[in-house]
Amino acid sequence: MKRTLLNIVLAGILAALVAVNWIGARDYRQPNYEFIPNMVHSVPSDTFAPNANFADGKTMQAPPPGTIPYGMPALPYRATTQDAVRAGIELANPFSATNSVALDRGAVLFQRFCLPCHGATGAGDGPVAKRGFPPPPSLTADHARQMKDGQLFHIITYGQGNMPAHAAQISADDRWRAVLRVRQLQERAAAAATTAKTP
Ligand code: HEC
Repeated sequence: MKRTLLNIVLAGILAALVAVNWIGARDYRQPNYEFIPNMVHSVPSDTFAPNANFADGKTMQAPPPGTIPYGMPALPYRATTQDAVRAGIELANPFSATNSVALDRGAVLFQRFCLPCHGATGAGDGPVAKRGFPPPPSLTADHARQMKDGQLFHIITYGQGNMPAHAAQISADDRWRAVLRVRQLQERAAAAATTAKTP
């Protein structure tokens, strides 16, 4: 009698297992069951939303002082004319004037970032200058021609007088490529002047 009861119980358990196996068959085309779903889907905070987790109540935190953006190495110069001259002595353009890929890129950069003020040929007649912004001196004049590459790089990096700094918009390598373009425009202007003089 005892054994009959045991067998009935065992048969019941077997039937239950078969039923569970049947009903609970995993469909691999569907995501699996998520146990404690909040550990899978974290609750994000919007960049500009208030945030009680931080002392200043903001989600986006200011980078710690002295943080250097990736690809923008710190330069040991200040934004002064003396340091621009020093940069001219100490720094050399990593790109050669015969590097056509760098030159092409420099031309694009010049068109985007310099032409608005300096004009397509560097003469200082860009559209911004024509609309009242203090016109820059010609980049093909002797003053700029006599500057060393590093000095041009410093001026693009830190700005000069009415010219704003471009370190935040243009990476260091691209600033050197823009210097190549300035040199190219200077050479073209010099060549054109020589041709004009020849009768
Ligand atoms: C918002 C207008 C503006 C933009 C954009 C600009 N510049 Fe200038 N730039 C000036 C002005 C104005 C000066 C004259 C600054 C001064 O008062 O000494 C100048 C001066 C210079 C000088 C020094 C020339 C000299 O003879 O003293 C160089 C070199 C130069 N810019 C290169 C560039 C390059 C390269 C770019 C692009 C990456 C650029 N600038 C973008 C306005 C601009």
